[in-house]
Amino acid sequence: MPADLCESREPGGDDALLDSSELETVSLARLALTHPRGLAGLEPLFERTHGGGGARNPGWLPIKLKRECVDLNASCVVRTPSVDARDPAWLGFALVGTPPSLAPCARMSGMGVVPRYRGRGLARRMLAHIQRTLPSTHDKLRCLSEPHNRSMYAHLGFEESHNIATLLHFGAGADTALAEPRDARPGHGEVIAQWLDETWTHSPIESKRVWQTDDGRAYLTREGCSLLVHRFELADTSEIERGALILDRLRASVEQGTPVLVYGWPDDPDALRSMDHRGWKVAQRACVMVRNY
Ligand SMILES: CC(C)(COP(=O)(O)OP(=O)(O)OC[C@H]1O[C@@H](n2cnc3c(N)ncnc32)[C@H](O)[C@@H]1OP(=O)(O)O)[C@@H](O)C(=O)NCCC(=O)NCCS
Repeated sequence: MPADLCESREPGGDDALLDSSELETVSLARLALTHPRGLAGLEPLFERTHGGGGARNPGWLPIKLKRECVDLNASCVVRTPSVDARDPAWLGFALVGTPPSLAPCARMSGMGVVPRYRGRGLARRMLAHIQRTLPSTHDKLRCLSEPHNRSMYAHLGFEESHNIATLLHFGAGADTALAEPRDARPGHGEVIAQWLDETWTHSPIESKRVWQTDDGRAYLTREGCSLLVHRFELADTSEIERGALILDRLRASVEQGTPVLVYGWPDDPDALRSMDHRGWKVAQRACVMVRNY
């Protein structure tokens, strides 16, 4: 099999390979310099650990690395010993970002282990690599845990901070006539929902749109067929009911049937009720968890 096709394969049934002293933890910085295809093997590895059936757009990984300020020294892959240096099997990865807006907190951008090798200490090993290699300016690590992973992160020393939800509804208008972001600047008002400043700043310019009224402003990007609200702010109030009303006006400006996602909505009963009344559904829930180093 050509080396290109082997990067994320599982080694054939030889559990002796999992003697942890034989596995290698390699930073993405080193892989980028020494591997024949650089980081290209990460995309198929991600598909195998997280699924998705090839639904992601080709080339999504470099965009993610940039948007989420991924630190290539602290991020890593665990692989089998390189008998043939061009043909090691990649068993797991951990991506960690150091977006300036969160400093001195670093942020997990994704971690996965291929199903057959879960429960054998690979995640713990990759977190130890992160702890050793994070810049000295960073003494905290934050992750976004889906409900089923909470107890694992708690076991690994993370404490719950707050809960967020991603909301979904559909455009109800005739056209998607949203403005280009030329004049928009973050920091306009009271922020109700937000991803990272950097994910917006580093999104491709052609994908960015802004929608604004006198009362509020939304920063959006086109992600495949959906529109994603990265940041939503109100001009002079933080009243959640008012925000829900304004997001419905945004929806009325988006072409009928286009999925509209709002990231980082507060996951508390009042905040969710105000959106539920208007037909918004929770697409995903997560808990922000933090550990100190
Ligand atoms: C989550 C995931 C990365 C964990 O990787 P892993 O290599 O199986 O994890 P480890 O074997 O290193 O386990 C880490 C520790 O957590 C513990 N643990 C695992 N699941 C646990 C749970 N549900 N509750 C409490 N502790 C748990 C393990 O016992 C281990 O502790 P120990 O070292 O003291 O024995 C892996 O299951 C995975 O890829 N899942 C799918 C993708 C995903 O959900 N990624 C995370 C969010 S992006």
